[in-house]
Amino acid sequence: MNILLIGSGGREHAMAWKITQSSLLNKLYIAPGNAGTAALGENVNIPVDNFDAIGKFAVEHQVDMLVVGPEDPLVNGIHDYFLSEEKLRHIAVIGPQKAGAKLEGSKKFAKEFMGRHDIPTARYKSFKKEEMDEAFEFLSELKPPYVLKADGLAAGTGVLILNSISEAKTELAKMFEGKFGEAGNTVVIEEFLKGIELSVFVLTDGKSYKLLPEAKDYKRVGEGDTGLNTGGMGSVSPVSFADKDFMGKVEQRIIQPTIKGLYEEHIPYKGFIFFGLINVEGNPYVIEYNVRMGDPETEVVMPRLKSDLVELFIGLAQGKLEEKKCEADSRFATAVMLTSGGYPGPYQKGKEIMGLENVKDSLVFHAGTKLQDGKILTNGGRVLAITSFGDTKADGLKLSYKNADLVQFEGRYFRKDIGFDI
Ligand code: AMP
Ligand code: GLY
Repeated sequence: MNILLIGSGGREHAMAWKITQSSLLNKLYIAPGNAGTAALGENVNIPVDNFDAIGKFAVEHQVDMLVVGPEDPLVNGIHDYFLSEEKLRHIAVIGPQKAGAKLEGSKKFAKEFMGRHDIPTARYKSFKKEEMDEAFEFLSELKPPYVLKADGLAAGTGVLILNSISEAKTELAKMFEGKFGEAGNTVVIEEFLKGIELSVFVLTDGKSYKLLPEAKDYKRVGEGDTGLNTGGMGSVSPVSFADKDFMGKVEQRIIQPTIKGLYEEHIPYKGFIFFGLINVEGNPYVIEYNVRMGDPETEVVMPRLKSDLVELFIGLAQGKLEEKKCEADSRFATAVMLTSGGYPGPYQKGKEIMGLENVKDSLVFHAGTKLQDGKILTNGGRVLAITSFGDTKADGLKLSYKNADLVQFEGRYFRKDIGFDI
């Protein structure tokens, strides 16, 4: 089978790494990919939002399956596009159609969906631009901190948590004035939930689902979870508090009603669902849905997945996921992200990465790199994820940190306390 994977981050490198282990794979293409994926398949210089060019490439290269890494093309309807074109219709697309991708593409839709299916989430109300007064009134009913969410996609920046009501009002006004563009034309205001976060993933064909290993992500740039939010500075899997009892609640109260809800609402869904959860005194609540895998969670989830990912994808595409096996390695996997100095603020690109050949016993997933004149250069804020296995979390982290020190580039930064809180 020929597979075209779209995206260019650590998530896509980790997926490419897993896909190439399948005996069912003939040829892997990655569009646009990075220096890491170039070693596993053929990088194709097509941006993820150019559906015509992706479709044309797929036909010309006899692609049988399209695996969509990031959310943007899904929310913008790449799956629908493939279904609408005679020449592309036979290609299996891993990732939901537009209707299902709304779970991530519209926070209001997601909250209403959870409401209809009694899925635990924070109390909320949503407001349009014209409803500023009503929105201020709702804010005054809540206790600080205040959570404001732009309805649409805002590249992971559309959630604000404010400590005072005056700040919340100011920020709300800015959102309505276009701080996040059209994404903020509608704003969800919700109650703040206090607890520890967890990322849970499933693959679903719209009827049944397979639970993938869970993970914990470290979003803040600074040690002790301080400073600005990033795309993620590291991850670990498994997560100690996600024990049998807690995961039982997650499946019963959240995953099953979500899959059933999609089915009952006639929303076809073939792909990943990422449940961003928070553990409030032993009870799971949904913070957000994503319609793709997480990054850097994928860099620990894929290594722990023992089953053949391509076989799971085929089962999913054929609506026979139920018949497939999905097994996890019992070891821990830990990922430490090496980032460019300054990230998540302004940072430099194009710095040469050295010492990759010295890494032993860890996997290196490229997140923001490119190949140029035979050199591997930094090409993003998040540059490389160093993933290791260990019989304990501490063993995995020790190895990740040992290897992190061996890779050098100007401005390199990483958090030294990944996994500190569990
Ligand atoms: P997102 O950008 O959608 O991943 O959300 C950013 C972060 O905001 C989440 O990872 C949570 O840490 C936090 N967050 C979102 N909603 C809530 C909430 N209702 N209560 C507490 N924290 C929240
Ligand atoms: N690591 C969180 C995300 O991918 O959204």
